[in-house]
Amino acid sequence: MFRNTVTTSAPGKLLLFGEHAVVYGRPCIVTAINQRLYVTAELLDEPVVRIDAPDINIHSETPLSDLSSQQFLECAVLNMKATHGVHITTKSDFLSTYGFGSSSASVVALLKALSHKINNNDLFSLAYKTILEVQGVGSGFDAAAAVYGGTLVYTKNTPPVELKASGMPLIVGYSGVKADTATIVKDVAIKKEKEPEKIGRIFDGIAEYVKQASETVSQGDWKRAGRIMDFNHEYLRDLGVSTHKLEDMISAAKKAGAWGAKLSGAGGGDCMIALVADDKRKAVTDAIAEAGGQIMDVEPNAEGVRIEK
Ligand code: PMV
Repeated sequence: MFRNTVTTSAPGKLLLFGEHAVVYGRPCIVTAINQRLYVTAELLDEPVVRIDAPDINIHSETPLSDLSSQQFLECAVLNMKATHGVHITTKSDFLSTYGFGSSSASVVALLKALSHKINNNDLFSLAYKTILEVQGVGSGFDAAAAVYGGTLVYTKNTPPVELKASGMPLIVGYSGVKADTATIVKDVAIKKEKEPEKIGRIFDGIAEYVKQASETVSQGDWKRAGRIMDFNHEYLRDLGVSTHKLEDMISAAKKAGAWGAKLSGAGGGDCMIALVADDKRKAVTDAIAEAGGQIMDVEPNAEGVRIEK
Protein backbone atom coordinates (compact mmCIF):
# COMPACT_ATOMS: atom_id res chain seq x y z
CA MET A 1 0.00 0.00 0.00
CA PHE A 2 2.69 2.51 0.97
CA ARG A 3 6.28 2.61 2.16
CA ASN A 4 6.66 1.44 5.74
CA THR A 5 6.57 4.99 7.13
CA VAL A 6 5.47 8.13 5.29
CA THR A 7 5.11 11.68 6.55
CA THR A 8 2.89 14.12 4.68
CA SER A 9 1.57 17.58 5.41
CA ALA A 10 -1.38 19.70 4.32
CA PRO A 11 -2.04 23.40 4.87
CA GLY A 12 -4.73 25.03 6.96
CA LYS A 13 -7.07 27.52 5.28
CA LEU A 14 -8.78 30.85 5.58
CA LEU A 15 -12.00 31.71 3.84
CA LEU A 16 -11.56 35.12 2.20
CA PHE A 17 -14.97 35.66 0.57
CA GLY A 18 -18.23 33.75 0.17
CA GLU A 19 -18.76 31.67 3.33
CA HIS A 20 -22.19 30.13 3.83
CA ALA A 21 -23.28 30.96 0.27
CA VAL A 22 -20.75 28.33 -0.89
CA VAL A 23 -22.75 25.63 0.93
CA TYR A 24 -25.63 26.47 -1.46
CA GLY A 25 -23.68 26.24 -4.70
CA ARG A 26 -22.32 29.79 -4.92
CA PRO A 27 -18.56 30.36 -5.31
CA CYS A 28 -16.14 31.30 -2.53
CA ILE A 29 -12.49 32.33 -2.39
CA VAL A 30 -10.26 30.36 -0.02
CA THR A 31 -6.54 30.62 0.61
CA ALA A 32 -4.24 27.91 1.97
CA ILE A 33 -2.05 29.15 4.84
CA ASN A 34 1.53 28.46 5.82
CA GLN A 35 0.48 26.75 9.07
CA ARG A 36 0.43 23.02 8.34
CA LEU A 37 -0.80 19.76 9.75
CA TYR A 38 1.64 16.82 9.60
CA VAL A 39 0.67 13.16 9.50
CA THR A 40 3.03 10.22 9.85
CA ALA A 41 1.58 6.85 8.86
CA GLU A 42 3.51 3.72 9.77
CA LEU A 43 2.43 0.36 8.41
CA LEU A 44 1.71 -2.21 11.14
CA ASP A 45 1.63 -6.00 11.05
CA GLU A 46 -1.40 -6.13 13.34
CA PRO A 47 -4.83 -5.26 11.86
CA VAL A 48 -5.35 -2.19 14.06
CA VAL A 49 -5.46 1.57 13.60
CA ARG A 50 -3.49 3.29 16.33
CA ILE A 51 -3.91 7.07 16.52
CA ASP A 52 -1.71 9.49 18.42
CA ALA A 53 -3.01 13.00 17.85
CA PRO A 54 -1.71 14.92 20.89
CA ASP A 55 -2.97 18.31 19.59
CA ILE A 56 -6.56 17.13 19.84
CA ASN A 57 -5.91 14.78 22.73
CA ILE A 58 -6.72 11.55 20.88
CA HIS A 59 -4.80 8.38 21.67
CA SER A 60 -6.68 5.30 20.51
CA GLU A 61 -6.31 1.80 19.13
CA THR A 62 -9.14 0.26 17.11
CA PRO A 63 -9.31 -3.03 15.17
CA LEU A 64 -9.50 -2.45 11.40
CA SER A 65 -12.86 -4.25 11.43
CA ASP A 66 -14.27 -1.85 13.98
CA LEU A 67 -13.42 1.61 12.61
CA SER A 68 -15.86 4.46 13.18
CA SER A 69 -17.20 6.66 10.42
CA GLN A 70 -17.77 9.31 13.13
CA GLN A 71 -14.08 10.02 13.58
CA PHE A 72 -12.16 11.87 10.85
CA LEU A 73 -8.98 9.77 10.74
CA GLU A 74 -10.71 6.40 11.18
CA CYS A 75 -13.27 7.32 8.53
CA ALA A 76 -10.42 8.27 6.15
CA VAL A 77 -8.84 4.82 6.68
CA LEU A 78 -12.24 3.21 6.02
CA ASN A 79 -12.70 5.19 2.81
CA MET A 80 -9.21 4.26 1.66
CA LYS A 81 -10.27 0.60 2.12
CA ALA A 82 -6.98 -0.06 3.91
CA THR A 83 -6.15 -3.72 4.42
CA HIS A 84 -3.14 -3.17 6.70
CA GLY A 85 -2.96 -1.85 10.21
CA VAL A 86 -1.47 1.61 10.55
CA HIS A 87 -0.08 3.83 13.29
CA ILE A 88 -1.07 7.44 12.63
CA THR A 89 0.66 10.31 14.39
CA THR A 90 -0.36 13.93 13.82
CA LYS A 91 1.48 17.13 14.63
CA SER A 92 0.14 20.59 13.98
CA ASP A 93 1.65 24.05 13.53
CA PHE A 94 -1.60 25.50 14.88
CA LEU A 95 -4.20 24.85 17.58
CA SER A 96 -7.39 23.13 16.40
CA THR A 97 -9.40 25.91 18.11
CA TYR A 98 -8.36 28.58 15.57
CA GLY A 99 -10.70 27.37 12.83
CA PHE A 100 -7.85 26.88 10.35
CA GLY A 101 -9.27 23.55 9.23
CA SER A 102 -7.26 21.01 11.21
CA SER A 103 -9.81 18.21 10.56
CA SER A 104 -9.80 18.60 6.79
CA ALA A 105 -6.02 19.07 6.66
CA SER A 106 -5.51 15.93 8.74
CA VAL A 107 -7.86 13.90 6.53
CA VAL A 108 -6.12 15.11 3.36
CA ALA A 109 -2.62 14.50 4.76
CA LEU A 110 -3.59 11.03 5.99
CA LEU A 111 -5.20 9.97 2.69
CA LYS A 112 -2.07 11.15 0.87
CA ALA A 113 0.13 9.17 3.28
CA LEU A 114 -1.99 6.04 2.74
CA SER A 115 -1.85 6.37 -1.04
CA HIS A 116 0.91 8.73 -2.05
CA LYS A 117 0.41 8.13 -5.79
CA ILE A 118 -3.22 9.29 -5.67
CA ASN A 119 -3.92 12.27 -7.95
CA ASN A 120 -5.27 15.50 -6.49
CA ASN A 121 -8.78 15.17 -7.93
CA ASP A 122 -9.25 11.67 -6.49
CA LEU A 123 -7.69 12.81 -3.22
CA PHE A 124 -10.12 15.73 -3.02
CA SER A 125 -13.14 13.48 -3.71
CA LEU A 126 -12.15 10.99 -1.01
CA ALA A 127 -11.39 13.75 1.49
CA TYR A 128 -14.67 15.55 0.87
CA LYS A 129 -16.61 12.26 1.14
CA THR A 130 -14.88 11.60 4.49
CA ILE A 131 -15.59 15.09 5.85
CA LEU A 132 -19.26 14.93 4.81
CA GLU A 133 -19.68 11.50 6.41
CA VAL A 134 -18.29 12.69 9.74
CA GLN A 135 -19.59 16.26 9.84
CA GLY A 136 -22.85 15.89 7.94
CA VAL A 137 -22.56 19.35 6.35
CA GLY A 138 -19.97 21.41 4.48
CA SER A 139 -19.04 22.67 1.06
CA GLY A 140 -15.63 20.99 0.81
CA PHE A 141 -13.77 24.32 0.44
CA ASP A 142 -11.43 23.36 3.28
CA ALA A 143 -10.48 20.05 1.65
CA ALA A 144 -9.89 21.89 -1.65
CA ALA A 145 -7.46 24.32 0.05
CA ALA A 146 -5.66 21.43 1.80
CA VAL A 147 -5.29 19.46 -1.45
CA TYR A 148 -4.56 22.10 -4.09
CA GLY A 149 -3.10 24.95 -1.99
CA GLY A 150 -2.76 28.51 -3.29
CA THR A 151 -5.77 30.81 -3.46
CA LEU A 152 -8.81 29.26 -5.12
CA VAL A 153 -12.21 30.20 -6.41
CA TYR A 154 -14.11 27.16 -5.21
CA THR A 155 -17.64 26.12 -6.15
CA LYS A 156 -19.10 22.76 -5.10
CA ASN A 157 -18.93 20.05 -7.78
CA THR A 158 -16.69 22.17 -10.02
CA PRO A 159 -12.88 22.03 -10.37
CA PRO A 160 -11.37 24.92 -8.39
CA VAL A 161 -9.77 27.81 -10.28
CA GLU A 162 -6.47 29.09 -8.96
CA LEU A 163 -6.10 32.87 -8.56
CA LYS A 164 -2.78 34.67 -8.76
CA ALA A 165 -2.80 36.29 -5.36
CA SER A 166 0.79 37.00 -4.42
CA GLY A 167 1.58 39.74 -1.93
CA MET A 168 -1.83 39.68 -0.26
CA PRO A 169 -1.49 42.14 2.68
CA LEU A 170 -3.61 40.12 5.10
CA ILE A 171 -3.93 40.46 8.87
CA VAL A 172 -5.64 37.70 10.84
CA GLY A 173 -7.07 38.15 14.34
CA TYR A 174 -8.38 35.29 16.48
CA SER A 175 -11.42 36.12 18.61
CA GLY A 176 -10.53 33.66 21.36
CA VAL A 177 -13.78 31.78 20.84
CA LYS A 178 -13.96 28.41 19.09
CA ALA A 179 -16.80 28.36 16.58
CA ASP A 180 -18.98 25.30 16.08
CA THR A 181 -19.15 25.32 12.28
CA ALA A 182 -21.64 22.46 11.86
CA THR A 183 -24.13 24.04 14.29
CA ILE A 184 -23.89 27.46 12.63
CA VAL A 185 -24.32 25.95 9.16
CA LYS A 186 -27.42 24.12 10.43
CA ASP A 187 -28.76 27.36 11.99
CA VAL A 188 -28.38 29.11 8.63
CA ALA A 189 -30.21 26.20 6.97
CA ILE A 190 -33.13 26.72 9.38
CA LYS A 191 -33.19 30.46 8.55
CA LYS A 192 -33.20 29.59 4.87
CA GLU A 193 -36.19 27.27 5.38
CA LYS A 194 -38.07 30.06 7.14
CA GLU A 195 -37.14 32.90 4.78
CA PRO A 196 -35.98 31.34 1.52
CA GLU A 197 -36.26 34.49 -0.57
CA LYS A 198 -34.43 36.78 1.84
CA ILE A 199 -31.60 34.31 2.46
CA GLY A 200 -31.43 33.43 -1.24
CA ARG A 201 -30.98 37.15 -2.03
CA ILE A 202 -28.17 37.36 0.53
CA PHE A 203 -26.42 34.38 -1.08
CA ASP A 204 -26.82 35.89 -4.55
CA GLY A 205 -25.40 39.19 -3.26
CA ILE A 206 -22.44 37.38 -1.71
CA ALA A 207 -21.87 35.49 -4.99
CA GLU A 208 -21.74 38.79 -6.88
CA TYR A 209 -19.08 40.09 -4.47
CA VAL A 210 -17.08 36.88 -4.84
CA LYS A 211 -17.09 37.41 -8.60
CA GLN A 212 -15.86 40.99 -8.19
CA ALA A 213 -13.32 39.93 -5.57
CA SER A 214 -11.79 37.27 -7.81
CA GLU A 215 -11.00 39.99 -10.35
CA THR A 216 -9.60 42.46 -7.83
CA VAL A 217 -7.57 39.77 -6.04
CA SER A 218 -5.93 38.61 -9.28
CA GLN A 219 -5.20 42.23 -10.20
CA GLY A 220 -3.65 42.79 -6.76
CA ASP A 221 -6.08 45.66 -6.18
CA TRP A 222 -6.14 45.17 -2.40
CA LYS A 223 -7.82 48.47 -1.69
CA ARG A 224 -10.86 47.48 -3.73
CA ALA A 225 -10.72 43.90 -2.39
CA GLY A 226 -10.90 45.43 1.10
CA ARG A 227 -14.06 47.35 0.18
CA ILE A 228 -15.59 44.12 -1.08
CA MET A 229 -14.68 42.45 2.25
CA ASP A 230 -16.71 45.14 4.01
CA PHE A 231 -19.73 44.53 1.77
CA ASN A 232 -19.41 40.76 2.16
CA HIS A 233 -19.27 41.18 5.93
CA GLU A 234 -22.49 43.22 5.93
CA TYR A 235 -24.27 40.25 4.37
CA LEU A 236 -22.79 37.91 6.99
CA ARG A 237 -24.04 40.24 9.71
CA ASP A 238 -27.50 40.12 8.06
CA LEU A 239 -27.28 36.33 8.19
CA GLY A 240 -26.79 36.65 11.95
CA VAL A 241 -23.46 34.82 12.17
CA SER A 242 -21.24 37.61 13.53
CA THR A 243 -20.55 38.18 17.24
CA HIS A 244 -19.91 41.27 19.40
CA LYS A 245 -16.28 40.30 19.74
CA LEU A 246 -15.80 39.89 15.98
CA GLU A 247 -17.62 43.20 15.38
CA ASP A 248 -15.33 44.98 17.89
CA MET A 249 -12.22 43.60 16.22
CA ILE A 250 -13.48 44.41 12.71
CA SER A 251 -14.48 47.96 13.53
CA ALA A 252 -11.20 48.53 15.41
CA ALA A 253 -9.29 47.38 12.30
CA LYS A 254 -11.27 49.70 10.08
CA LYS A 255 -10.96 52.71 12.38
CA ALA A 256 -7.20 52.15 12.41
CA GLY A 257 -7.14 52.39 8.62
CA ALA A 258 -7.66 48.87 7.20
CA TRP A 259 -8.92 48.84 3.60
CA GLY A 260 -11.59 46.39 4.71
CA ALA A 261 -12.31 43.59 7.18
CA LYS A 262 -14.69 40.72 7.73
CA LEU A 263 -15.21 37.57 9.70
CA SER A 264 -13.72 34.45 8.13
CA GLY A 265 -15.48 31.09 8.17
CA ALA A 266 -18.78 30.12 9.73
CA GLY A 267 -18.84 33.00 12.24
CA GLY A 268 -19.77 32.67 15.90
CA GLY A 269 -16.07 33.04 16.79
CA ASP A 270 -12.79 31.92 15.21
CA CYS A 271 -11.01 34.60 13.15
CA MET A 272 -11.50 37.93 11.44
CA ILE A 273 -9.35 39.08 8.53
CA ALA A 274 -8.37 42.50 7.21
CA LEU A 275 -6.54 43.86 4.17
CA VAL A 276 -4.16 46.60 5.14
CA ALA A 277 -1.62 48.94 3.50
CA ASP A 278 1.96 48.51 4.73
CA ASP A 279 2.05 51.87 6.49
CA LYS A 280 -1.11 51.02 8.47
CA ARG A 281 -0.10 47.51 9.45
CA LYS A 282 1.16 48.33 12.90
CA ALA A 283 -1.79 50.59 13.77
CA VAL A 284 -4.27 47.94 12.63
CA THR A 285 -2.61 45.03 14.46
CA ASP A 286 -2.43 47.17 17.64
CA ALA A 287 -6.11 48.11 17.29
CA ILE A 288 -7.22 44.48 16.84
CA ALA A 289 -5.15 43.46 19.86
CA GLU A 290 -6.67 46.29 21.93
CA ALA A 291 -10.12 45.04 20.95
CA GLY A 292 -9.16 41.70 22.53
CA GLY A 293 -8.04 39.83 19.41
CA GLN A 294 -4.94 37.67 19.12
CA ILE A 295 -2.88 38.46 16.02
CA MET A 296 -2.05 35.29 14.14
CA ASP A 297 1.21 34.90 12.24
CA VAL A 298 -0.31 33.61 9.00
CA GLU A 299 0.83 33.83 5.38
CA PRO A 300 -1.74 33.12 2.64
CA ASN A 301 -1.20 31.27 -0.66
CA ALA A 302 0.66 28.27 0.76
CA GLU A 303 1.49 24.99 -1.00
CA GLY A 304 -1.10 22.19 -0.99
CA VAL A 305 -0.62 18.67 0.33
CA ARG A 306 2.87 17.24 -0.02
CA ILE A 307 5.00 14.28 0.97
CA GLU A 308 7.58 15.36 3.54
CA LYS A 309 9.60 12.14 3.77
O1 PMV B 1 -15.86 27.73 10.08
P1 PMV B 1 -14.99 27.36 8.92
O2 PMV B 1 -13.71 28.13 8.90
O3 PMV B 1 -14.77 25.90 8.83
O4 PMV B 1 -15.77 27.82 7.61
C1 PMV B 1 -17.06 27.37 7.33
C2 PMV B 1 -17.51 27.93 6.01
C3 PMV B 1 -18.96 27.62 5.65
O5 PMV B 1 -19.19 28.17 4.36
C4 PMV B 1 -19.91 28.28 6.63
C5 PMV B 1 -19.24 26.12 5.64
C6 PMV B 1 -18.63 25.38 4.47
O6 PMV B 1 -18.39 24.18 4.61
O7 PMV B 1 -18.45 25.97 3.39
